Amino acid sequence: MSALISLKDVCKSFGGIVVADHISIDIQRGEILGLIGPNGAGKTSLFNLISGVYPADSGSISVSGQSLDGLNLHQRARLGVARTWQHMRLFASMSVLDNMLVAPRDYPGEKISNILFRPKQTAAANVAMHERAMGILKRMNLQAIADSSVNDITFGQQKLVGLARALMNDGECLLLDEPMAGVEGNAYETMKSIVREEAASGRAVCVVEHNVSFIKDLCNTAVFMASGKILERGSVDSLLASQTLADLYFGA
Ligand SMILES: Nc1ncnc2c1ncn2[C@@H]1O[C@H](COP(=O)(O)OP(=O)(O)O)[C@@H](O)[C@H]1O
Ligand SMILES: [Mg+2]
Repeated sequence: MSALISLKDVCKSFGGIVVADHISIDIQRGEILGLIGPNGAGKTSLFNLISGVYPADSGSISVSGQSLDGLNLHQRARLGVARTWQHMRLFASMSVLDNMLVAPRDYPGEKISNILFRPKQTAAANVAMHERAMGILKRMNLQAIADSSVNDITFGQQKLVGLARALMNDGECLLLDEPMAGVEGNAYETMKSIVREEAASGRAVCVVEHNVSFIKDLCNTAVFMASGKILERGSVDSLLASQTLADLYFGA
């Protein structure tokens, strides 16, 4: 079975800093792969390379068998690369709903030509986007805050809205950068069940997380990175039992 997300020998450096050193990773549909490692390991950089924030120096990345090489962030989003950001990047003074409508792939209402020349189709598509957004918020039990300003909701709710915005892209590749950082209580449980559901629906999910119990609960396999290299990969339990990981990650 061919992997949904496939990285082959991906390398990237910034000056003397190697953030990706011959990285090869395959993620299957329905899989939730954990990506763990100390700060500065290159985890976020790997997501930036997959989503097209910057190009790789060498190697190749494909999604659903289609090469992403040479494509920018927006083109990759259109091909189904959905991601969240470690620092949420929400528009704080805008409503939750408007944040979700900012960037779904192929949002027809963002093009003036559509509004002028295809008003009916555009209006219908906008209604569909609105309904999709409300459906996602309902799954998170956040429908009541759809019109609230992001400024006025809790941090946990903001993290969920970051995920909700990513889910507006219904593509099959979902990259989650520290979704649980600072999240507790109801929001924690909601985050966990939504991520599980998204994988069950056929997405290939990769999650960067320091919260070990979250990784244990959701992932069968994980990859351990440090200094831009994959040092170990395997079952979450085997990784957590590894001495290399203990030394580098927990400073034991
Ligand atoms: N655009 C960039 N320019 C220069 N250095 C960068 C850039 N992005 C990341 N780095 C460096 O690459 C290393 C890995 O960063 P990052 O991928 O954010 O790590 P992680 O997410 O694992 O904490 C860090 O040393 C960081 O300072
Ligand atoms: Mg990071």
